[in-house]
Amino acid sequence: MEFSHVPVLLEECLEGLAIRPDGIYLDGTAGGAGHSREIARRLTTGRLISLDQDPDAVETATQRLQGLPAQVVQSNFRYAPQVLDELGIPALDGALLDLGVSSHQLDDADRGFSYRADAPLDMRMSQSGATAADLVNSLDREELTRILRDYGEEPYAWQIAGKILQRRQERPILTTLELADTVASALPPAVRRKDKNPSRRTFQALRIAVNSELDALNEGLDGIFERLAPGGRFAVITFHSLEDRLVKNKFRRWATACTCPPEFPVCVCGGKAKAKLVNRKPIEAQGKELEENRRSRSAKLRVLEKL
Ligand SMILES: C[S@@+](CC[C@H](N)C(=O)[O-])C[C@H]1O[C@@H](n2cnc3c(N)ncnc32)[C@H](O)[C@@H]1O
Repeated sequence: MEFSHVPVLLEECLEGLAIRPDGIYLDGTAGGAGHSREIARRLTTGRLISLDQDPDAVETATQRLQGLPAQVVQSNFRYAPQVLDELGIPALDGALLDLGVSSHQLDDADRGFSYRADAPLDMRMSQSGATAADLVNSLDREELTRILRDYGEEPYAWQIAGKILQRRQERPILTTLELADTVASALPPAVRRKDKNPSRRTFQALRIAVNSELDALNEGLDGIFERLAPGGRFAVITFHSLEDRLVKNKFRRWATACTCPPEFPVCVCGGKAKAKLVNRKPIEAQGKELEENRRSRSAKLRVLEKL
């Protein structure tokens, strides 16, 4: 199957990263190498390290980056500092994270990310560890509710979790469509009629849980920021509000000098900002890109420069 994924906000990322031909760059989410290839093309004596936790993406990215000053490593970006240590790279001039799943992962029905096609309920980006089916068939109602509410912002989390427990007592829920059907059966008919994809939030929540996406992002942001050289740029594209909030808050904290409690009338901490925001508001897709690439609709790009 052809690996098809159109890079989102490509020009904006390249501009945000302010690529220097002799710089050392990290792409923490290689995917189909859409961004990686354009970064690597702009390098002369510089070098790009591209990571992805998905072996399929690593294979594709490796092929697509052949002949360019780039190297692909299979790793979760939360371990970026360790990978950089192993490669003997002390500091980065820029880093990119383009979060979430690729169109390829979504389109490959067997991976179980999509509620539109019947497939084993898998959702593991790394193709290892516990699957979505493992979670759905083992967690208690409270834990399932927490996942659906916190990661999917699902208003009917408790009801859906209850239905999941009821169904799995008869037999385990093993496929995407079995889960989608279970979700639909937990919702009031009026909601079902109005919402064309009522299982969207449940699928998002389980995907985040299966891949520990928010923990990885939290750790990855810290680890990568730590390795940026002064003047180094960090560009992050998010696709839902939980991710964006995490990135926004971290970027703000790094870009804030004073860390005194807000009720203090004057600053006593004498803190110094570690970074400056390159754009105050997130950059969003516009015009043609919005029309042509559905994925771009929810994309938000934030860029920061280390001081
Ligand atoms: C949106 S796609 C990236 C697409 C890429 N920028 C392109 O233009 O082709 C996200 C990719 O990041 C990978 N990914 C997501 N979270 C990851 C993590 N924590 N560590 C490593 N790779 C991750 C996914 O496997 C997927 O291939």
